[in-house]
Amino acid sequence: MSDTVARPIGVAVLGMGNVGAEVVRILTDSDGDIRERVGAPVVLRGVAVRDASVPREGVDPALLTSDPSALVAREDVDIVVELIGGVELPRTLILAALEAGKSVITANKALMAVHAGELSEAAARNRVDLYFEAAVAGAIPVIRPLTQSLAGDSVNRVAGIVNGTTNYILSEMAETGAVYSEVLAEAGRLGYAEADPTADVEGYDAAAKAAILASIAFHSRVTADDVYREGITSITPADLEAAAKFDCTIKLLAICERLTEDDGRERISARVYPALIPLEHPLATVNGAFNAVVVESENAGRLMFYGQGAGGAPTAAAVMGDLVMAARNRVYGGRGPLESTYASLPVAPIDDVQTRYYVSMRVADRPGVLEQVAGEFASQGVSIAAVRQEGAGEDARLIVVTHRASDRAQSETVAALEEMDSVIKVSSVLRLEGTNE
Ligand code: NDP
Ligand code: HSE
Repeated sequence: MSDTVARPIGVAVLGMGNVGAEVVRILTDSDGDIRERVGAPVVLRGVAVRDASVPREGVDPALLTSDPSALVAREDVDIVVELIGGVELPRTLILAALEAGKSVITANKALMAVHAGELSEAAARNRVDLYFEAAVAGAIPVIRPLTQSLAGDSVNRVAGIVNGTTNYILSEMAETGAVYSEVLAEAGRLGYAEADPTADVEGYDAAAKAAILASIAFHSRVTADDVYREGITSITPADLEAAAKFDCTIKLLAICERLTEDDGRERISARVYPALIPLEHPLATVNGAFNAVVVESENAGRLMFYGQGAGGAPTAAAVMGDLVMAARNRVYGGRGPLESTYASLPVAPIDDVQTRYYVSMRVADRPGVLEQVAGEFASQGVSIAAVRQEGAGEDARLIVVTHRASDRAQSETVAALEEMDSVIKVSSVLRLEGTNE
């Protein structure tokens, strides 16, 4: 124990579900270490839950309340940890806490992807901390490296696997050949997927994380609506098999990129979609519910962060890191970094983004079809890198992999292919990322 002991730092935890229960456990089990690291005792003043009459393991029932607003307003609460989820209620509670001069920790990506500006301004105005390390990629430190370790560098790209549920589903489909719906059910049984898994499988969760990453990496304000988004629901075992034949796998990627035009004008691309990546790419080996984020910056080069992107204890570890930092600032003075949006870069539409494509189509099995299909790509200025024919007769499929082209050119090519007599159906269009061609 230190010689000088500052006054206790009071903490309110809002929500005691998967993450909140683990935060309360760590706070209780490690109070001696935390006191040493902070320089003052960190005391749990109360825990807000929906139903305070339900006993919670390891918590004095007297600490439970179903009135989070009253808990936030208490004089002896210095730091509020928001782990309820949703948007409107936590927004109201966090604003009240910040305006009352309390620091706030949240793991809420859905909230931060929409209201980061308003909340950060309230934190700055009231000279308190607003930390949200756990909102992106669970346990993996990625917010602090971007806002602090790389504060003197210029980030060009942040790309990664930031949703554990979809990574588990795609990894299982690739490994076992199972169809999407079977693996989704298994993800639910294992507790990875939410009861309503829409936010995960349709890419909304990853898009919220991409908005947060793009904002801090490029010193601009990017919200969830700015992020182009596609989910994984239409990925089939045939896509994964075809990807394997091109020595690739398929991952749901979140990509935040600085685009620099020939005239030096800069824009941001923020996008989430399932994409082929070569098997030798570092993200291809990230399997199961794990996450990984690759950051490329001007001087540091390429950095990779890997670990558990979800789950109670891993996410609570990131929350606790924020809590110790905010508590130290209370004891010694000082504050964490403010929101930085000075660059105000605009977000480019997906049409302007250049990448490579994988296009799979069912075609008539007769001479000349390949030439016609190739001609359509050529007429839109899209260069073909590889073609493979699968099946025959009724089941004939052509798979085309292109060189880099704009999304606009690719969309126009696909629209034209769909009009051709010899193309029965364009069954799949995916991007190919992680190559330089
Ligand atoms: P849970 O649904 O497991 O827990 C939510 C908690 O909030 C419950 O304890 C619930 O109370 C409480 N709660 C809900 N409504 C109210 C209310 N009106 N007043 C008071 N308490 C309320 O959520 P998670 O722990 O999974 O997630 C919490 C946050 O962390 C979310 O923002 C999520 O996106 C984020 N996050 C979660 C990760 C994960 O792996 N789970 C990973 C990264 C971030 P009761 O117990 O009575 O129902
Ligand atoms: N549902 C999210 C996931 C939780 O599967 O990654 C972590 O944010």
